Amino acid sequence: MREDIEHLFARNKVWAKKMTDMDPEFFMELSKLQEPKYLWIGCSDSRVSANQVIDLAPGEVFVHRNIANVVVHTDLNCLSVIQFAVEVLNVHHIIICGHYGCGGIKAAFEGSEYGLIDNWLRHIKDVYRWHKKEIDAQPDHKSRLNLLCEKNVIEQVANVCHTTIVQRAWKNKKDLTVHGVIYDIENGILRPIDTEVRATKCYPSTG
Ligand code: CO
Repeated sequence: MREDIEHLFARNKVWAKKMTDMDPEFFMELSKLQEPKYLWIGCSDSRVSANQVIDLAPGEVFVHRNIANVVVHTDLNCLSVIQFAVEVLNVHHIIICGHYGCGGIKAAFEGSEYGLIDNWLRHIKDVYRWHKKEIDAQPDHKSRLNLLCEKNVIEQVANVCHTTIVQRAWKNKKDLTVHGVIYDIENGILRPIDTEVRATKCYPSTG
């Protein structure tokens, strides 16, 4: 029912006024074009909102989110976002952001059943299978989940790098870097998870 979300319209009015009070031309300028430098691929989790986590204003980051920040080779939705970001918006950075405490990662790891989404989470189960030895060797359940969150980011960075879009961009000497980062919902801190993966300008074209 509309009354249930009435307060959201009220909040929106206050926010829009605050923005125009700071800069009367803000929305008019932004309406002409967007020039974000970053593409953010993150989890749909309500606690990991891209703009808020990296404190960027509207217009500064192009965003794709799905459950457990997965980049699937045949996902037209995600691939279209990457293509538009790289080829039309000319972003210089693609940021894959995972987060600790991810419900999708937990469900995949623990084998919980939720119906349709279990098929999506198969991708995470694959990541676990590839890194099972290292993950199982962790001292406790939380550390195992945390490591799976990190391994998932690393695998998704590789998936982004292997898309035809990123491969073509690098072939054309485009300035484009793919970064893997992880967000800690317990303290709000974002950090790079693997320096090797961060500098992927020369990522091999096959493999
Ligand atoms: Co999540």
